[in-house]
Amino acid sequence: MADLLITDVTLPDGRRVDLGIHDQMLVDPADLIRPTLIRASGLIALPGLVDLHTHLREPSPHPAETIATGTAAAARGGFTAVFAMANTNPVTDTASRARDMAARTRAASAEVLTVGAITDGLDGATLSDMAGMRAEGVTYFSDDGRCVMDAGLMRRAMLDARALGAVVGQHCQDHTLAGADAYLPDCCSPASEDSIAWPWSAESTIVARDVQLSLDTRARLHVCHVSTAESVDVIRWAKSRGIPVTAEVTPHHLLLGADLLASADTTFKVNPPLRSDEDRDAVRHALADGTIDIVATDHAPHLASDKDKPFPSAKPGMVGLEWALAVVQHTMVDTGLMTWTDVARRMSHEPARIGQISSRQGRPLTPGEPATLTLIDPARRTVVDRDAAVTQGRNNPYHGMELPDPILATFWAGRSTYRSPALM
Ligand code: DOR
Ligand code: ZN
Repeated sequence: MADLLITDVTLPDGRRVDLGIHDQMLVDPADLIRPTLIRASGLIALPGLVDLHTHLREPSPHPAETIATGTAAAARGGFTAVFAMANTNPVTDTASRARDMAARTRAASAEVLTVGAITDGLDGATLSDMAGMRAEGVTYFSDDGRCVMDAGLMRRAMLDARALGAVVGQHCQDHTLAGADAYLPDCCSPASEDSIAWPWSAESTIVARDVQLSLDTRARLHVCHVSTAESVDVIRWAKSRGIPVTAEVTPHHLLLGADLLASADTTFKVNPPLRSDEDRDAVRHALADGTIDIVATDHAPHLASDKDKPFPSAKPGMVGLEWALAVVQHTMVDTGLMTWTDVARRMSHEPARIGQISSRQGRPLTPGEPATLTLIDPARRTVVDRDAAVTQGRNNPYHGMELPDPILATFWAGRSTYRSPALM
C-alpha cells in the first residue's frame, strides 16, 4: 500500500497531530515518500476497537453469518479485533476445533481471537480440553449463551484457567430462575408465568456466586453483558475487595429498555433481557466510573426464520457490531458521561488487555505502533437501515432510529478494511 498521511487529526486526548502510515506501521510523517493524503480536520482517530464478545456463527450448517461477513461488519463498526464466541456448531471445545477456527479466519477483515468453551459441547457437565486449546493460543474461555450452573465445575474451571494464565467469562443466567423460554424482565409484568419470566435475580445471584469463586481461586473472572443495577452493586463490592473481576455492558443495554418488549417484535428478545430505566442508568454510570470495564457487543445475528416465531420460541440475540460506537457516542459521550479517551479505554485498550491479545491491538496511536485505528466524524448522523448493513443479520434493534454514524475508515495494521463513501 502507498504511504498515507492523515493530517490535522484529533487524538482521543484532544491533541491534533499528523499521522503517517508506512506499510503496517505508524511512522513520523517526515519519513513518508509521496503519501496519499487524508485531510482530517475535525475528525478523531481512535485506536482500533476490540470486541470481546462476538458471535460469528461459523462453523454452522445453517450460518446466520460467516467469518467473512461478520468481520466485514466489524470493520464497518470500527473494530480491528473480535473474540469469536464458542457456541458455534460444532462448539469450539478442543484443540483441533481451535486450530480449525484459526485456519478459517486467515482471510478475515479483522483479527479473530478464538474463545474456547468451558465445557464439552456447552453441556455444563464435563470440562473441555482447556489446556489443549490454551496451547493453540486461546486465552479466553466461556460457555456464553449458557450459564455454567454447576458451582463445583465452575470452580474447577477457574482453577485450571488460573494455572493456564487464562480468563473465564460467565453468561450469568441461573437457568432454574430463567430457563430456555424466559424472555420477560420483571419490570414488564410482575405476575408473568414462570416459564417466560427472566427476573433480575437470575443474573446477580450467579455474579455473586462467581465473584466468591474468584476470591476463593484467585482466578480472573469476566462477567458478560451486565444488565442490572444489582449485578453492578456486586461487581463494585468485588472490586473494592480486590477480587480479580472484570465486566462488560452491551450497547443495547446502554440504550434500549424493556418498554420495547410491548411490541410484538422478537428483534428485542435478548439474553439477558432489556431492563428498566433504573437498570439502564445504573449500567451507564457503572461504565462511566469503571465498575464496568468495557463495552462488548454480543453481536448475535440470527436467521429470519429463527426470529419469525412466537416470543418464547424465537432465538434471543441482536446484531451489534456496526452500531456499537454510534450507541456509545449517543448514550455516553453526547450525554457528557464519558470522553473520547474513556471510549478508547473501554472499547480498545481494556478489552485487548482483558483478552490478552498478543498482537499489538489496543495500543496508543504513536509512531512505532501498528497502524490499527478508526477514523471518526462525531458530527455525522443517519437513520439506521437494517437492510443497508454489512452483517447478514437483519435482527437490528436500532432500525429506524436516528443515531450518530461516526465511522469513516478503519485500518488494521496498515490495511484499509473499511472506507465510508463519505470520506473523499
Ligand atoms: O441473546 C443472546 N444471544 N445472548 C447470548 O448470550 C447468546 C446470544 C446468541 O448466541 O445468540
Ligand atoms: Zn451471553
